[in-house]
Amino acid sequence: MITAVPRVATLTLNPALDLTVRADGWRRGEVNLGQALHWAAGGKGVNVASFLADRGLGVTATGLLGSGNPEQFETLFRAKGIRDAFVRVPGATRVGVKLVDGAAQVTTDINLPGLAATPEALEDLEERLLSLTQDHAVFVLAGSLPPGVNADFYARLIRRVRAAGRFVALDTSGAALGAALSAATLPDLVKPNIHELEAALGRSLAGEADVLAAAHELIRRGAGLVAVSQGERGALLVTAGEAVRARPPRVRVQSTVGAGDAMVAGLVAAHTGGLDLAAAARYATAFSVGAITRLGAHLPPDTELDAFAAQVQVDVLDGMVQT
Ligand SMILES: Nc1ncnc2c1ncn2[C@@H]1O[C@H](COP(=O)(O)OP(=O)(O)O)[C@@H](O)[C@H]1O
Ligand SMILES: [Mg+2]
Repeated sequence: MITAVPRVATLTLNPALDLTVRADGWRRGEVNLGQALHWAAGGKGVNVASFLADRGLGVTATGLLGSGNPEQFETLFRAKGIRDAFVRVPGATRVGVKLVDGAAQVTTDINLPGLAATPEALEDLEERLLSLTQDHAVFVLAGSLPPGVNADFYARLIRRVRAAGRFVALDTSGAALGAALSAATLPDLVKPNIHELEAALGRSLAGEADVLAAAHELIRRGAGLVAVSQGERGALLVTAGEAVRARPPRVRVQSTVGAGDAMVAGLVAAHTGGLDLAAAARYATAFSVGAITRLGAHLPPDTELDAFAAQVQVDVLDGMVQT
């Protein structure tokens, strides 16, 4: 008998198309020569899908995509075998321009506004996401909400997807995170970075004890696994019965963009593989470390990823939730 590997669906409401232009020594107001140009389809859920596909998981990507400029996304999905379930909406997906002066080591960012979501598009999307609960076991809701979407949109989707008996992971920030963490139904997995968690809870988390207390608070409210990442310092992962700290090895960083998205992908992959908390922390940190050693949302080959995993320092903390 063939055991079906659970499929993962990722949701990206506010994808972004990044254009990187390298023009060494460029000067404002003058005619400049560029050296290179690179397009990259992104957005948190798209990145998570890309990382998971690199590990051979069956992935479907959904969300809202402008019908005016979908080519880079479609090319990525084809290349990685990601099923495209994006709802196409009129207009163009937001573009972020990165102007890189490699000589001066300075990057200038110009972010163009994104599409506003219409009620009809959101209705289509919600229907599509719920229909995916038929053959997807895990859902990843990731990234910011575009204009036109209420802050409680993720909270609503979490409730509905969990009611369908599916596992839900959330990675967002600001009011959307705040609303999701104060709703009646919390996600099975949430991965704020420390700044996002502080903002959502409205207090500063100065030391490890504060972070553990905050994670325990979310678990008491109903979250399954709380992973709080802290950049190069690593992450704390907390469940109702356990807590671990995972420290990454020192590596040559290419770009830390997507480090957190890779950690979400690693935690999801660990969940589908049935890993325990310590192993999940090691594996997910290896995903992040692997991701930051290259440009774009791509993981290194398995042997390199395994080597990073072996270098992650995992400590078990005394982490019982006090109820
Ligand atoms: N400079 C770095 N060196 C090593 N590991 C890093 C570095 N930055 C991030 N990481 C790894 O990536 C994980 C997630 O990064 P973080 O910056 O906290 O997330 P986010 O991208 O969501 O803000 C960290 O827990 C850590 O394991
Ligand atoms: Mg993040």
